[in-house]
Amino acid sequence: MTEANNRLSVAPMMDWTDRHCRYLHRLLSRNALLYTEMVTAAALVRGGARHLLRFDPAEHPVAVQLGGAEPGELAAAARMAAEAGYDEINLNVGCPSDRVQSGCFGAVLMEQPALVADCVAAMVAAQPVEVTVKCRIGVDAQAPEEVLPAFLETIRDAGVRRVTIHARKAWLQGLSPKENREVPPLDYDLVYRMKAEFPELHVSVNGGIGSLEEARAHLAQGVDGVMIGRAAYHRPADILLEADRAIWGEPPPLARAEEAVELMKPYIAAHLAEGGRLHQVTRHMLGLFAGRPGARGWRRVLSEGAHRPGAGVALLDAALAEVEPEGEKRAS
Ligand SMILES: Cc1cc2nc3c(=O)[nH]c(=O)nc-3n(C[C@H](O)[C@H](O)[C@H](O)COP(=O)(O)O)c2cc1C
Repeated sequence: MTEANNRLSVAPMMDWTDRHCRYLHRLLSRNALLYTEMVTAAALVRGGARHLLRFDPAEHPVAVQLGGAEPGELAAAARMAAEAGYDEINLNVGCPSDRVQSGCFGAVLMEQPALVADCVAAMVAAQPVEVTVKCRIGVDAQAPEEVLPAFLETIRDAGVRRVTIHARKAWLQGLSPKENREVPPLDYDLVYRMKAEFPELHVSVNGGIGSLEEARAHLAQGVDGVMIGRAAYHRPADILLEADRAIWGEPPPLARAEEAVELMKPYIAAHLAEGGRLHQVTRHMLGLFAGRPGARGWRRVLSEGAHRPGAGVALLDAALAEVEPEGEKRAS
């Protein structure tokens, strides 16, 4: 992985950015940094769930996101992640879900910068892979202009060089996790100011970014990177298949999204041969033709057929027959 990969990343998303999803995303962009779902340190260290770290070598550059708030446990989990071969180890200081709050980690840690510093220092000391942080601009009644710079200073002094800031607060009382990704207002300017105030930090902005044009506009404001979550998941071809050209000035790896379907076939066949189910992979492919004539048919054939016992890769051809060819748009 190089510094340049950070210019665009796909956000960590529970239940969404699993290894199958990341394999697909990597077919669409050679350069974008891909994040795993959050894996809790407790599951790795106390639960022995090493399988949660599994990924395909094709996914590089790939970052694992850890959740936790206990320095020793996070250090042990970071060691396991480094052994597994991840390119980056990210600590979740932004996720507001109840489950995460009750474990006292995620966004609630914005209120405990000293504890976050202990955590990241332990993770840095335990292994050689870079440790990064994903955070919010604040939580609840905190004043972001005050707490965010103090937070960044504290984690910088603990050894963090790279941070992704979801540019809205998390309101820990009264909002669902979904509402917490939509309701608290976005403050991109504050993130730009943080980059200016901490030029030594690599700062990525996240939250509500829906196109590569928007991503480029953020980069033009001086931030080092842009992280895209939902748009990349729901419209992977719009975002990722155009990203290598728009962000890195390189030709895209594929001329058309259809080619990704072909390239997923051997991957899916191997997954099925291991006893996996078709829908576990195809559910991440539903948005592949979003916005194109026939996209609805593609989704319907896949979602109705992929759960059926014995469903195999032939279903992809049946679904693809619904999609109207778009010509050689990207091949020029
Ligand atoms: C389904 C879903 C699951 C998410 N899970 C995580 C997670 O595990 N860790 C995390 O830091 N953020 C998580 N997020 C938040 C995203 O990483 C991102 O910060 C947020 O969606 C805002 O970016 P976007 O507007 O580009 O989607 C999740 C978001 C979604 C939609």
